[in-house]
Amino acid sequence: MGLARWLRWHGCRVGRRLGYALLGASHLGRPRPSEIEKLLNAKIVGYPRNHAYRLRQGRMLPTFKLHDRLRAVTDLYPPAVESFLDVGCCRGYFVLDAARRPSCRLAVGIDVYEPFVLIANEVRQCLGANRAAFHLADLKSVAEQPRRFGGPFQVVLLLNAYHYLYWGSGLCADACPDHREILLRLSRVCAERVIFVARLEVDRLPDPLRKEAAASDRASDYTTARFLAAADEWFNVDVAGHVARDALLVMTKRKRNTDN
Ligand SMILES: C[S@@+](CC[C@H](N)C(=O)[O-])C[C@H]1O[C@@H](n2cnc3c(N)ncnc32)[C@H](O)[C@@H]1O
Repeated sequence: MGLARWLRWHGCRVGRRLGYALLGASHLGRPRPSEIEKLLNAKIVGYPRNHAYRLRQGRMLPTFKLHDRLRAVTDLYPPAVESFLDVGCCRGYFVLDAARRPSCRLAVGIDVYEPFVLIANEVRQCLGANRAAFHLADLKSVAEQPRRFGGPFQVVLLLNAYHYLYWGSGLCADACPDHREILLRLSRVCAERVIFVARLEVDRLPDPLRKEAAASDRASDYTTARFLAAADEWFNVDVAGHVARDALLVMTKRKRNTDN
């Protein structure tokens, strides 16, 4: 890395840390979490560690990593988010943040792991986030009947979950090893743009999935190039930056080919 780039990178990082410190400072002096918040805070821990936040007097305080990821993706939201879907929403942080935006009439999170959906719903109730909803559902079910879930959605988030949709996971064995089919489903639930971060190369997959994928006859299909070629049928794809080592993509839905 050249000196100028190094300084820019560290400058940005210091700025982001400072922003986070100010957010923390804004919570200082506030009363402690209520009893119900304390109970919920005890549940909002564990895998995945980059989706951790705490509740305090009706506000969510994310870890630096989560705050930094939120900043990266919200920079890519339209000025007024009207409707929002998070696929693989985990404990609901991005959904609950979207639901707080005055322009947002509905923010929906789906996940296939029931404990995540239950805790996200408990947090929703605790915060009184009436414009948020969480469902135990996969992308296929929402794509089959988007209106049943309040879609199609202006903004769709798919962060760090694509490899599970493609290969399946310990939480949900249903795999769809076909970029075109997953992207068709995304195009059906999305009205405007998908914001996307994923590990799109076999050697970037987490263990033990990497070994399984490497041994599979689909391994040569699981590449960024193949993904982008498939996405081109429905979306204009732009690289907006990186989150850790993975590309942050904005996929804007094309006007033509609206359905299949
Ligand atoms: C690594 S976590 C990412 C969580 C969240 N998107 C984030 O970036 O903080 C992967 C999430 O995808 C969910 N997941 C796994 N397979 C899924 C599927 N087939 N459909 C929807 N969600 C799935 C998991 O339960 C988990 O919440």
